Amino acid sequence: MTGITRLREAIVKHKENKDINIKYKTPLTVTERYEYTHGFATYNESEAVPGALPIGQNSPQRAPHGLYTEKLSGTAFTSPRHENQQSWLYRILPTSSHDNFEPVAETSEQVLPSPSPSFGKHFNAIPNQLRWDPFDFDKEASWIRSLHLVAGAGDPTMKQGIGMYIYTVGSDMPEKSAFYSADGDFLIVPQHGSLDIRTELGNLLVRPMEICVIPRGIRYHVKLVNNEPARGYILELYQGHFQLPELGPIGSNCLANARDFQIPKASFIEDYENTAWTVYGKFDGKLFEAKQHHTPFDVVAWHGLYYPYKYDLGRFNTIGSISFDHPDPSIFTVLSAPSLPHGQGTAVADFVIFPPRWLVAEGTFRPPWYHRNTMSEFMGLIAGNYDAKGAGKGGFQPAGASLHNTMSGHGPDMQTYEKASTMELTPAKVGEGSMAFMFESCLMVGVTEWGLKTCAKVQEDYNAHSWTPLKVHWKNPNSRGVSNGEQKNGVGDGKDASSIHVTK
Ligand SMILES: [Fe+2]
Repeated sequence: MTGITRLREAIVKHKENKDINIKYKTPLTVTERYEYTHGFATYNESEAVPGALPIGQNSPQRAPHGLYTEKLSGTAFTSPRHENQQSWLYRILPTSSHDNFEPVAETSEQVLPSPSPSFGKHFNAIPNQLRWDPFDFDKEASWIRSLHLVAGAGDPTMKQGIGMYIYTVGSDMPEKSAFYSADGDFLIVPQHGSLDIRTELGNLLVRPMEICVIPRGIRYHVKLVNNEPARGYILELYQGHFQLPELGPIGSNCLANARDFQIPKASFIEDYENTAWTVYGKFDGKLFEAKQHHTPFDVVAWHGLYYPYKYDLGRFNTIGSISFDHPDPSIFTVLSAPSLPHGQGTAVADFVIFPPRWLVAEGTFRPPWYHRNTMSEFMGLIAGNYDAKGAGKGGFQPAGASLHNTMSGHGPDMQTYEKASTMELTPAKVGEGSMAFMFESCLMVGVTEWGLKTCAKVQEDYNAHSWTPLKVHWKNPNSRGVSNGEQKNGVGDGKDASSIHVTK
């Protein structure tokens, strides 16, 4: 095979998306089934029927092919150009054509399992480090019923804050139904099983090791793939939208590159005669439903900057230290939602990943340092082991989670410290076959009753397992007779070290 032939085959495979994640040995058994365009925050246009997009204007007196024109805005009309996100949709019937929205009855199949009618009252903000065992699959639940709010902060009515969910899906959403959240953008992180998502703007296949973002307001329908149950994590962003982090001295490439984000192409259904659809809307944490006599998935063409997208985590270009010391984890940021009121460079939500990578730092404690942060850190594990925490039963496991809240101390567990502080520092690959991630926020994060009690997954002995066993290695250079590493409580006599008089 010639070099050119190999190159051509590589290009074909790339276009078919068959090669993604091969370097991380992720079991991607589901083949891509949709086409996308590429880019992040790029102006996009797509038409499923030629000529459906008007040329040279957005809202002609009569849109092409008898379509209705509808504007979908994700930012204020007057937002500056670099932040402005609006799309123009050309559809068979406009979204406004529906019966009244009514609250969904608690007995409905589609109820939210951990609703949050009042955010201030329903979050338990506690300083303890928390860790959850893997969350169970639910064979029955479809998308809406699978959305378990675990933790969060803020208030969607004020467009401030975040929500963090575990979803466990066992069945497709009912046919002729759609869901949207008016509260926030959904960043979906599959851990197991793929999601086939039909959105108003086109279709997305989202597999483990891929993520997708569905901006608020956009209607969508979720199906399983090959009847495989699905499980994963969601970060809901009540304020603003995600953007790529600034790269500073890194330059114009690396981390998540803009060209690797994938945008769906227009795809529509013709279903507007003798039909009945139900649209479910999450509005201030509560679920409403409305009937309508046409499909919401009738957008024949669209153009704009407000759309869903997906990203393959295997395409993240990871940066790290090639000299010494463990850098701040901000170098692993995929997407960021800044919060300027909290200060420049501060995010209400960062999505951070810990991909397989080489560690080569010399003379360095290579795992994360012990720390207390002003930020809150909610972590999950898609696959494999995380290098700072023990794995296996009772540890940090795939489909589990942890929360280290504002100013709550944490870091490597005892076993990791003992190993990393004495190991020979040769170049080492960590995280092979693994992908941990973090939802990081400048807000103090509270836990719902479901997350704290109902789910019954909280590891009560998390601290006892991780940090209480840490040994004292302190050797007072001025002391004789104080054993090294044996005494659990420092110098052992209750005196401040500086007050001990030692005669040499
Ligand atoms: Fe941390």
